[in-house]
Amino acid sequence: MSVKTAALRLDRLLANLGYGSRREVQQLIWAGLVTLDGEIVDDSDAKIAVTADLADRMTVDDEALDPPPGLCLMLNKPLGVTCSHKEQGPLVYGLLPERWRRREPAISTVGRLDKDTSGLLLMTDDGALLHKIISPRSNVTKRYDVTLDRPLRGDEGKLFAAGTLMLDGETKPLEPALLEVATPTRAYVTVTEGRYHMVRRMFAAVGNHVVALHRDRIGALTLPDDLEPGRYRLMSAADIAQVFQAPDPTPVA
Ligand code: URA
Repeated sequence: MSVKTAALRLDRLLANLGYGSRREVQQLIWAGLVTLDGEIVDDSDAKIAVTADLADRMTVDDEALDPPPGLCLMLNKPLGVTCSHKEQGPLVYGLLPERWRRREPAISTVGRLDKDTSGLLLMTDDGALLHKIISPRSNVTKRYDVTLDRPLRGDEGKLFAAGTLMLDGETKPLEPALLEVATPTRAYVTVTEGRYHMVRRMFAAVGNHVVALHRDRIGALTLPDDLEPGRYRLMSAADIAQVFQAPDPTPVA
């Protein structure tokens, strides 16, 4: 899935990608700093077909153009940063290039991770893709690596799988979730929903307390081992397709 991208005027394209105001990008264009397929384009009205390969074909001030609209990335969210555009303190958007914060359409997180949760977070400017990933109909699974304060009792897996667990203050039970036990105080939980503080509240409902929470998988897409906390990577169409695939059942212990 990608954002509908017909053709845009060059100055509008660059302004939408955050390179500056319409006036500022016109100066860049008129100064001969923009090239397409190796040729200078100094006409700010030039109609540019916004294709997925544009970043490989266009340069601005000798640098490859930023990814055109339809961008989707995976971020290894570190602890202590918030999935919000406007809260105080460090935000996930601060981990992206500064210019990307001025893009139109804007980049948003696909769902949220708590400030105290680390791991795989997707971000996109493609509203249709975002909604498809979070739609209950897509049934996209999310796996969390959970470290607990106290040893598991033994009945949690059955309770989570039953589809009857009611979280405090809610009226609809949780959809069935999978618990895979690694050690008495460490487990993997796979869920399809995305309710507020959901995994922490699931363990609170069984008398335990989550001391560390890390998301390592969305669908069949696993957080790459070489993606350091705080770093992001653009996703290919194949990566995006993995989000909608069921993960391989792998033993965790
Ligand atoms: N469940 C939580 O409790 N927190 C998260 O960040 C994600 C799932």
